[in-house]
Amino acid sequence: MTTSWQHIQALGPFTTDVWPYISVETNKTRALLARMCGVAPHRLALTENVTSGCLLPLWGLPFEAGDRLLISDCEHPGVVAACHELARREHLEVDNLSVQHFRQGREAQHETDAGVLQALDAALKPRTRVVVLSHLLWNTGQLMPIPAVADHLRHHAQQPFLLVDAAQSMGQIPLEAAAQAADIYAFTGHKWTCGPEGLGGVALSERILNQANPTLIGWRSLRDETRAVIDDPEPFHQDSRRFEIATSCVPLMAGLRQSLRLFANEGNEQERLQTIQSLSSELWRQIKELPGTTPLLKGEPPAGLVSFQINDPSGRSPAEVVQILGRSGIWIRNLEEPICLRACTHITTKPNEINRFVDALEQLIFPNH
Ligand SMILES: Cc1ncc(COP(=O)(O)O)c(C=O)c1O
Repeated sequence: MTTSWQHIQALGPFTTDVWPYISVETNKTRALLARMCGVAPHRLALTENVTSGCLLPLWGLPFEAGDRLLISDCEHPGVVAACHELARREHLEVDNLSVQHFRQGREAQHETDAGVLQALDAALKPRTRVVVLSHLLWNTGQLMPIPAVADHLRHHAQQPFLLVDAAQSMGQIPLEAAAQAADIYAFTGHKWTCGPEGLGGVALSERILNQANPTLIGWRSLRDETRAVIDDPEPFHQDSRRFEIATSCVPLMAGLRQSLRLFANEGNEQERLQTIQSLSSELWRQIKELPGTTPLLKGEPPAGLVSFQINDPSGRSPAEVVQILGRSGIWIRNLEEPICLRACTHITTKPNEINRFVDALEQLIFPNH
């Protein structure tokens, strides 16, 4: 990233000389992320975070009053709030897709898959226009059967759009089948891919490109950025760039690509997931065996998110537990829905870090042991 920054400064920001470099950086990054999602580059928009990737295309869809949004009960607060605001402005109804109670874990994934499809059937209404469901649930850590959900929706009379929040998937689990099946598949480079904050992407279906209007508009959305567009009925790119806006931080692209290169050196997506799973299973087992802590999932986790509840005899809240562990350099987080703590294992996690974490937890719950 530093080299890229220096290069831009040497060429001169916003000079004629710098644009070919920016265009190569942008095209390389778009092509790489598109390849990871298994879609053509014209279907991949560059964004700055997960949330804008979810919302820029969603807000551009044509709605009619009385249309309905079906949102899972495990979506991120920012996305949920934006869906409710959209509903208020467009006079839509919001329905709940209940998936938080699926806690089977990896071995019984087929039960979860069947349960999610049943829940979907029960919650879909004739006017459902969009379904919002994360690929890997950020709170329980359960995996959602996105390709099967997309297939199900194709057989619904309205063929609702499927918006998938992939915040926890990119860099953690194989994406391709889900990204190809969803209408909006939004991710960031700063979570499980360990890239810099401020750069993400969204894979879009052809029907989103055809039907959704640009939402926040700037020169990058335009086919011809040199002219004001008063008399042009269709001034926007037909491809994913219609959802890109204006100036953003180009050196981040080198950072994300480098991070993805380092990941590739550690094995393919499936091999990396196996490493993550073997570490998260070990953590899950140790938490299960520790008196006073209970994992949310009944079986080993599908990926690296390990959520658990704690019965602390001293009555400390999960937020206090996070603070206390943080003082010894162990950072996990607490979540509100359901109230729990969440630790993560990644390909970078060392087995002794798991032991150190579980020892610290035990020490915190039973200081006299
Ligand atoms: C599932 C999920 N969605 C969205 C977000 C927000 O991410 P961003 O800040 O990249 O929009 C997060 C962040 O934790 C998340 O876990």
